[in-house]
Amino acid sequence: MSNKTDIVIFGGTGDLSERKLIPALFRAHQAGSLQTECRIIITARQANDLENYFDKLGSKLESYLSGEDVFSQEVWESFKARIVTLLLDVSCDDEQWQELANILDAESDHHRVYYLAIPPGVFSVCCRLLSEHGLCNENSRVVVEKPLGYDEASAESINEDIAQFFPENNIYRIDHYLGKETVQNLLALRFANQIFAQLWDGRAIDHVQISISETVGLEGRVSFYDEVGALRDMVQNHLLQLLCLVAMEPPNKLDANSIRSEKIKVLEALRPILPEDMGQQTVRGQYVAGEQSGEMVPGYLEELNGGSETETFVALKCFIDNWRWSEVPFYLRTGKRLKQRCAEIIIQFKTIPHRVYEESAGNIDPNRLVIRLQEEELIQLTITSKNMQSMGVELEPVTLNLNYNKPHGDAYMRLLMDAVKGDPALFIHRDEVRSAWRWIDPIINSWAEKKQSPHLYRAGSWGPEAANELIRRDGRIWFNAG
Ligand code: BG6
Repeated sequence: MSNKTDIVIFGGTGDLSERKLIPALFRAHQAGSLQTECRIIITARQANDLENYFDKLGSKLESYLSGEDVFSQEVWESFKARIVTLLLDVSCDDEQWQELANILDAESDHHRVYYLAIPPGVFSVCCRLLSEHGLCNENSRVVVEKPLGYDEASAESINEDIAQFFPENNIYRIDHYLGKETVQNLLALRFANQIFAQLWDGRAIDHVQISISETVGLEGRVSFYDEVGALRDMVQNHLLQLLCLVAMEPPNKLDANSIRSEKIKVLEALRPILPEDMGQQTVRGQYVAGEQSGEMVPGYLEELNGGSETETFVALKCFIDNWRWSEVPFYLRTGKRLKQRCAEIIIQFKTIPHRVYEESAGNIDPNRLVIRLQEEELIQLTITSKNMQSMGVELEPVTLNLNYNKPHGDAYMRLLMDAVKGDPALFIHRDEVRSAWRWIDPIINSWAEKKQSPHLYRAGSWGPEAANELIRRDGRIWFNAG
């Protein structure tokens, strides 16, 4: 069997390709992770996208990789040699497809990775034409981006379309959060350490917070984002995936089937939020103009240049109805144009059951474990200690700090290389997509029925006051980075 791999990026001149996929492949090339014979086939729908392609790509790559030491002229020249460009309108079955078949040598048993960086509306036709041109063999994998669909029914229909041409094992649904090294480290923390294993449930844990805050606004993705909003863009996938990794039972092995089946159990155990609880358990927000890092930035509607009720911020309180997590609240939060870019998981432990110290010794705060995925990558455990400078009994919180110092790895590179190797462990199974939407859909429907406008928040803040209220009602607060 051949070991040669061709990577085809449909929509190869689009934003995702230029910002994420090509830089990731460039890094893989630089690191020597791509086989010598691996080719990268870039397809574009419009001829002018391919005019002076390498000049345009070279300067973009240089700017996306700026600050890293990977861009060198020599590496760029050898990387360019791998790239084949092709004009191809995926929905037209004509000689363009035949040309692709010639390039890929349809008769061969080469491994092929097809990355569909194209609108979901053309996934089906693209897969069908791949199949009709003899380009799907048992070594062909198709990679698709989140969010898959905009609700359960549309996601199922996309999955059904792809399933006609690719078996489930060869469908790689990407969620780049799973490719982050710190997310892998979360698994190591949980499943390679006895001390946490013993404490990882509602007997010791008071609540969990998972926050992904972003400082960016729309970044030019106006029409995409306004259709989608933060719940579909971030919660249905990234936040629920992180929640699964925090909450799942230890898998028997770290292989795709074992991990995915544990994650599905968590998603299925998520307690549906009832319409009457929406007001207490969910908050949607939208940013208005504000000051961010000393600069005034426009509000969402100004960036959009129109009216919209789409949410750019979501906060949720949810529960997982199983033995381990019974009645432990999980607070999820994400938003754009917030004060600081940060993704972190906070495990807040319960207070000690009985105090042996006099009041005068000071507070005994509950232990807190912080797992920060970005910008800094760190794990911190706050404990209470005796103040060693004081002769008397004086307690103080101290933090055990494991700081990984600089960001590690590139999530897209990691996941693309897994797709090339044929390891689906860090990709999403169809059943996970279905279960996630099944939990999200009633929230979307309820918001739509109530026609509630989003709460406004100033750019550069930590979100709307209603989100603070959501957690304050429970006698808790959000732990904000910084
Ligand atoms: C993407 C969302 O999936 O994740 C974007 O579509 C968001 O809206 C991005 O900005 C955040 O990813 P990261 O890795 O920068 O936190």
